[in-house]
Amino acid sequence: MKVLQVQHLQKVFFPGTENERHVLKNINLQVDEGDFIAVIGNNGAGKSTLLNTIAGTLSADSGEIDLANHNVSKKSVAYRSRWMSRVFQDPKMGTAGDLTVLQNLVLAQSHTNTVNLHWYQKRDDVEKYQELLRTLNMRLENFLNTQVKYLSGGQRQALSLLMATLSQPKLLLLDEHTAALDPKTSQEVMKITDEMVQRKHLTTMMITHKMSDALKYGNRLIMVQDGQIKLDVKGIEKQNLNKEQLLEAFA
Ligand SMILES: Nc1ncnc2c1ncn2[C@@H]1O[C@H](COP(=O)(O)OP(=O)(O)OP(=O)(O)O)[C@@H](O)[C@H]1O
Ligand SMILES: [Mg+2]
Repeated sequence: MKVLQVQHLQKVFFPGTENERHVLKNINLQVDEGDFIAVIGNNGAGKSTLLNTIAGTLSADSGEIDLANHNVSKKSVAYRSRWMSRVFQDPKMGTAGDLTVLQNLVLAQSHTNTVNLHWYQKRDDVEKYQELLRTLNMRLENFLNTQVKYLSGGQRQALSLLMATLSQPKLLLLDEHTAALDPKTSQEVMKITDEMVQRKHLTTMMITHKMSDALKYGNRLIMVQDGQIKLDVKGIEKQNLNKEQLLEAFA
């Protein structure tokens, strides 16, 4: 079953001016349920623009986007977020710093900000969250009542991932979500990501500049170059890819 279908997607920034940039050039892409796609490509290739138009934070100039069998081409971010979650590069983006870990989780679960976070203390749920936090292996279960701004970047990003996946999204979009972390923490968060994707069978698109991660993780790899999909390999073909071949494809 397909989770996402992108057809003839086009995006031009600053059209008709001397700064005109054709950033998405007739992108066609089908993402099947369970696909874990590493998206790679040079700076400025159009990777984030592709994810932003899928998420709806940017509107495409033309083309169609079907998400979970709904045509969302003209729909708002809020509408699309019924089926889609995102984690960004900046650990501050996915969480609310002034709220506690527990409050952030409650918000993520509720999908609304009308919950009264003060009276929220259903014990079963607190224990459920604690259990989930424990699976991240980041000691977050000890910080349930700590404001998120006091957490490390790695802890915050692990929490962002947990929050993004609480409601079992049909599509998870990750835009360089480990890039702001030190090498060791980046690997830890990558491992958590992979475990989460496998455990929850999440269909995922993950932008990364780390070739080793792009090769190691996921069943599919897409290279975006100059607004087009230059390479799209899956399964055994992806497993057989190596770093040299990827670097060659960059040329
Ligand atoms: N909102 C915007 N307004 C104008 N130009 C934009 C906007 N967003 C992106 N661009 C331009 O579109 C091009 C592609 O940007 P995009 O962010 O998609 O690249 P990317 O592949 O994600 O690169 P990186 O690896 O550096 O994150 C760049 O030239 C960028 O300057
Ligand atoms: Mg980008």
